Amino acid sequence: MKKNTKLKVSIVMGSQSDYKIMILAEKTLKKIGVSFETKIISAHRTPQRMYEYAANVERNHIGVVIAGAGGSAHLPGMISALTHVPVLGVPVESKKLKGLDSLLSIAQMPKGIPVGTLAIGEDGAINAALLAAGIIANHNPNVRKKLKNFRTSQTKSVKKTPK
Ligand code: RP5
Repeated sequence: MKKNTKLKVSIVMGSQSDYKIMILAEKTLKKIGVSFETKIISAHRTPQRMYEYAANVERNHIGVVIAGAGGSAHLPGMISALTHVPVLGVPVESKKLKGLDSLLSIAQMPKGIPVGTLAIGEDGAINAALLAAGIIANHNPNVRKKLKNFRTSQTKSVKKTPK
């Protein structure tokens, strides 16, 4: 695949309150040495900001978008509708339905506009970052190397017997 070391990941979230989860995506990308930016963009509270952001995704060398949202979580789907760049959705746990609403909103996209949906909450944020790193690794040998090292050390960390 074509080498492009300029490609970065863009992490967006619907609210400041999502950051306690989405910070885990940041931490994971840092570990693998993937460049990223982080923004708060709400599909319903800041629709104009969302349009401007999505219109400039490609121009800004963004190779993957990670979008975290909770409740009626339309942000990942709306961004995906506005760009062909892959969008990974992280369902953030909601107050009333424990994130089941967020999960279904993000996962149940009708055909034609895809969102790669991860698990609810912390695991989803971490796996979204690992998946995004895997996509960036197709174009960046340094990221590929670090991702492989991460997987190797994770494997080594699993003991053969419990204490
Ligand atoms: C969504 O509403 C956000 O993604 C967040 O998960 C949820 C609650 O937002 P706040 O009321 O905490 O700002 O838009």
